[in-house]
Amino acid sequence: MKKTLFSLLAAIGLLAVSSALAAAAPVTLTPKPGPEPRINGAKVFGVRPGSPFLFTIPATGERPMTFAVDGLPAGLRVDPATGQITGMLKDKGEYAVTFRAENSKGKASRGFKIVCGDTLALTPHMGWNSWYVWENHVTDKIMRDAADAMAASGMMDHGYMYINIDDCWAVRPDAKDPTLLGEPRDKAGKVNSNPRFPDMKALTDYIHAKGLKAGIYTSPGVFTCAGHVGAFGHEKQDIERFVEWGFDFLKYDWCSYSAKAKDKSRAEYQKPYRLISGILKAQPRDIVLNLCQYGMDNVWEWGREVGGNSWRTAGDLGGDFDKIGLALFRDGFDVYAKNELHKFGGPGAWNDPDYLLLGYLSNWKGGTALTPLTPNEQYAHVSLWSLVAAPLIFSGDITRLDDFTLGLLTNDEVIDVDQDPLGKPGRRMAKTGDLEVWGRELEDGSLAVGLFNRGSALAVVTANWKDLGLSGPQVVRDLWRQKDLGTSDGSFEAAVGPHGVVLVRMRAAK
Ligand code: GLA
Repeated sequence: MKKTLFSLLAAIGLLAVSSALAAAAPVTLTPKPGPEPRINGAKVFGVRPGSPFLFTIPATGERPMTFAVDGLPAGLRVDPATGQITGMLKDKGEYAVTFRAENSKGKASRGFKIVCGDTLALTPHMGWNSWYVWENHVTDKIMRDAADAMAASGMMDHGYMYINIDDCWAVRPDAKDPTLLGEPRDKAGKVNSNPRFPDMKALTDYIHAKGLKAGIYTSPGVFTCAGHVGAFGHEKQDIERFVEWGFDFLKYDWCSYSAKAKDKSRAEYQKPYRLISGILKAQPRDIVLNLCQYGMDNVWEWGREVGGNSWRTAGDLGGDFDKIGLALFRDGFDVYAKNELHKFGGPGAWNDPDYLLLGYLSNWKGGTALTPLTPNEQYAHVSLWSLVAAPLIFSGDITRLDDFTLGLLTNDEVIDVDQDPLGKPGRRMAKTGDLEVWGRELEDGSLAVGLFNRGSALAVVTANWKDLGLSGPQVVRDLWRQKDLGTSDGSFEAAVGPHGVVLVRMRAAK
């Protein structure tokens, strides 16, 4: 039955009206967290035996707050004032624990699983990366400020954890700027940082003291993409250096390695990643490995096998500032649907469509500018990333977060979709012209559903149970607004603004 927009607006009432309005102005839909404690973020965490353990219980609510963990295995302790869990597990095993948080306004508890085994990154990474706002201007101070902002903005209370330096911390031999020059390596052949990073160990200590983790970047070639010293021929020494420095995450690019690869065979594409992950596995520290080779040779088919915890699935999402909107639909929606990428991601190994390009970004002309994505596109961006189980790595200016951007990054019900412990990436379940319905099965048997409108005019998007594999009445909850919308049967429809989304979760009605 074809419905007129009028009858539809009448039928679904306020939801449709406010979705239509959200097309025009940046309307913050995420409710502000309350003063009472609420425990957020991942519900499962992987660690290897013998590696230093660090996980901070993410919780919103007024401070001071007191934390406790029931059932914490021997070797771990929790700091009641900060919620930081530290120590070391000797033996492999799964530990079901309960996180508790309490303040003057109330109490909260949540189940959590610590899995001590071979697999890291049991849920997609959450954090911040320097590239899209600081590109080749990154410094030690910028990274410390980012760690401060991760705590002060409250982002870490929603599960964001990694503070990652991208390219440009190593020496750049052909630089004119003296702060990029120096001895590329020490006498033992281990890589040095440039003068903008005078003491890497002190930097990671600073990040860790906040309960956060630290990431670094290099490339298998002689040089990185921005012309700094890469790891070629020094892979083991450089990884040992990163371990000495205390890093927890490595983004391993491809740049300048083409000159070293013998041919375009799969074996040659895999070689640098097999090498590096083998070295990483031998270290007494857990370092999550992110492959960055832009999707060459269908990396999703073998990224896990070569030891990647995630792999970039396309080129740089923000490479052309004015075309980020185009890239979002091309490298996000189209690459994922066409290649059925949902078949390849899962706990320990994730498809990575690149960073969240929100807030202030580099305009690649020496300054910064607000993301060119419209408010609707920004909702579509975070919603799609959560549906496909992508890493949520924000790469805008974390020290200049407006309420709208913060709302996009910190909606706990949206983050719960991304971090769902089942780890089953969502997929496109229906497409009619510009209208797409994406769904993701969640651990509790519910289904997250994104109703997307890629067209440039307001449109009614219908999610049919037959496409979603549902039957019977479903309680529909709007995740951005964190509000139940009532019960639907057979289909659910919403008016969705241009390039926008309505993101819901459907649970079988009792
Ligand atoms: C490549 C990567 C980017 C960034 C730059 C750094 O372009 O895809 O994410 O790391 O290199 O030079």
